Amino acid sequence: MIGQPISRIDGPAKVTGTASYAGEDHAFHLDAPLYGVIVGASIGRGTIAAIDTASAEQMPGVRHVMTHLNAPPQAEPDPSVPSLYSRAFPVLSRAEVRHYGEPVALVIADTFEQARAAARLVRVDYVPSNGAFDFTADLEQAYAPRSVNAGLAVDTAMGDLEAAFRDAPVKVDVRYTTPYEFSQPMEPHACVAEWKDGHVTAHFSSQIISEAQVAIASTLGIDKAQIHLRSPFIGGGFGSKLGIHAETMLAILGARAVRRPVKIHLTREQIFHVVGLRPATTQRVRLGATRDGHLVALGHEVTMSSSRHSEYAEQTAATTRSLYAAPNRLTRHRLVALDLTRGEDVRAPGDAPGLLAVEAAMDELAYQLDMDPIELRILNEPKLDPERGVPFSERRLVECMREGARRFGWERRPTRPASLRDGRVLVGYGMAAAIRMHFQGPASASVTMYPDGGAVVRADMTDIGTGTYTIVAQVAAESLELPIERVSVRLGDSTYPRTSGSGGSWGAGNITNAVHRASEALKEKLRDAPVVPAEGITCTGKVAAMSREPNYQAYSIHTYGAHFAEVGVDADTGEIRLRRMLGVFAAGRVLNARTARSQLIGGMTFGVSAALHEDGVVDTRSGAFANRDFAQYLIPVNADIPTLDAILLDGFDDKANPLGAKGLGELGTCGAGASVANAVFNATGVRVRDYPITIEKLLRGLPPLSPDAADRSLADANLREPHFKPEAQKRGDARRRQSH
Ligand code: MOS
Repeated sequence: MIGQPISRIDGPAKVTGTASYAGEDHAFHLDAPLYGVIVGASIGRGTIAAIDTASAEQMPGVRHVMTHLNAPPQAEPDPSVPSLYSRAFPVLSRAEVRHYGEPVALVIADTFEQARAAARLVRVDYVPSNGAFDFTADLEQAYAPRSVNAGLAVDTAMGDLEAAFRDAPVKVDVRYTTPYEFSQPMEPHACVAEWKDGHVTAHFSSQIISEAQVAIASTLGIDKAQIHLRSPFIGGGFGSKLGIHAETMLAILGARAVRRPVKIHLTREQIFHVVGLRPATTQRVRLGATRDGHLVALGHEVTMSSSRHSEYAEQTAATTRSLYAAPNRLTRHRLVALDLTRGEDVRAPGDAPGLLAVEAAMDELAYQLDMDPIELRILNEPKLDPERGVPFSERRLVECMREGARRFGWERRPTRPASLRDGRVLVGYGMAAAIRMHFQGPASASVTMYPDGGAVVRADMTDIGTGTYTIVAQVAAESLELPIERVSVRLGDSTYPRTSGSGGSWGAGNITNAVHRASEALKEKLRDAPVVPAEGITCTGKVAAMSREPNYQAYSIHTYGAHFAEVGVDADTGEIRLRRMLGVFAAGRVLNARTARSQLIGGMTFGVSAALHEDGVVDTRSGAFANRDFAQYLIPVNADIPTLDAILLDGFDDKANPLGAKGLGELGTCGAGASVANAVFNATGVRVRDYPITIEKLLRGLPPLSPDAADRSLADANLREPHFKPEAQKRGDARRRQSH
């Protein structure tokens, strides 16, 4: 049963519309809710001098307008609480505006349309102050945080990087940049909240219910037991629902103020400003090697944006500490505090942007050495974790690269850049390694056997669309030796046993091991007392935090993979098209081959997106994101993603947990973008180091437009002289120079 590619057990509920999402209050048997609409600040930094709500309050249907002048007192976040997502999240708590779009008012009305119309009449007078909105302009202000995400070290150093790099016969010293990115799940953030007898019930869209409960309790200064949270179905999270945001706190505060259920959802545009973003980075990568390709120096220094009001340090250089052997090494994280929305985890935090730099720099080194990029990586494969000095629990990077190369036809790769053509299209092959940390967080689950022979699993675990319901049912069915139809899975409710939810790719490993342990205990109990009473027999299983698991100290536990991409670049227009892509991954035991593959191809798609599309652009005058919708913040559409496949090498990491399974939700995106970038270089000979690689950046390096472009035919295929330049074109160049 475990590993079988069975379809999602919640699929029928989803396709028939009976799966209830946060905004669908009718599903929750509440009184009819009122509707809340959030008014966001139209400046990036300053103070609210006056706020006039009179016109809004006089509009039909309006029940309440909340601003910082009448919002109830709330606690401030305590930075000593290790998890950002467990900290208080006060809203409308100050006259100060700390970033563009920060909520300044909430309008509650009988209908959504009434609330929206009234919200437009809220008049705010601001006293703006000078904000810092320009990351690149403030780079010299960078400071060292006390720790980076997940409590990891800010800096590490071994040997003498400077000296080793200076003396290395072959070296790469490059700066890559990555832009602001956003999680942007399909389902917007939403909450409907209702108070009864001092207790609040909130239906919201959450990745980690247990942390949300702590955050809400701290904000309001009430007991966790007074807060009932439900998030049974979630339309994607990607990090943006690890913590709560304004819609949840405002629905809760609004419902208490009007003594009616209140529903709020963020608009797509609001998500760009109210929910956290992935910091922009500039990353210096230094690779020093011997002439035969052994790394002697490896440096990865990251400077990223952060927010003045809430520090967030993405662990961008963290997996660089584990990826390749080199005696002299250095990693570093620095932050630039800006007046922007706070940073939060976005789709493979750290590893995704870090590998965009390191795995492209490795490609640059391979060309300098005139070496196959796979051979270069194999040559620098470490025997022990290079910085921790401990063995790897299961490291199958080389196997992933070899298997991928074989399946992809890597031997057909043109070794010289810009040497393969298909008509007017320059064709290139690229590869990159994938690595992702494996986390284990505390989790518990209960399994109850009923007299009818059916079992029910309960946990406050969330299924963010990844297939959690299904893998939990598979594990319980196998452990209990029941047909899967006899197992019901109930998730997403704070009254169920606590877990670390879904995030950081830890969800599957945590919950399935807790369920496995609960099921094993239950089986034991049933052996002793085979008659099941009417109320059923329940057992609970637990998984401890990795800090309490000796294996996580004694071993380096990661997941690995290798990406292969083939792109075509129009030689004249610079248009980049992914032609095909393959990822081969090893992440321990496969729990469900179908949902695992879906996770991985989704992650690879994010990688394509990071390489070629996504780019949050700040208006540096106002701190507003200029491209705050899906028309302008580009993400890949179906036409951008042709043949793409993910192969998962089944395994078993006996150091990670009893089921041998590790996370893989984010692995698919780690390194994926670099493989595309490396393919673009292989196609064109142009190395764009500022992501995303767009036409205008690429065109600067491409040879000028040739007048016969339209006439080129497939007869050009595999032409070895790509930069053919007839006389007529040279005249064209001269004309173009004149016009500039
Ligand atoms: Mo993930 S970005 O840790 O949900």
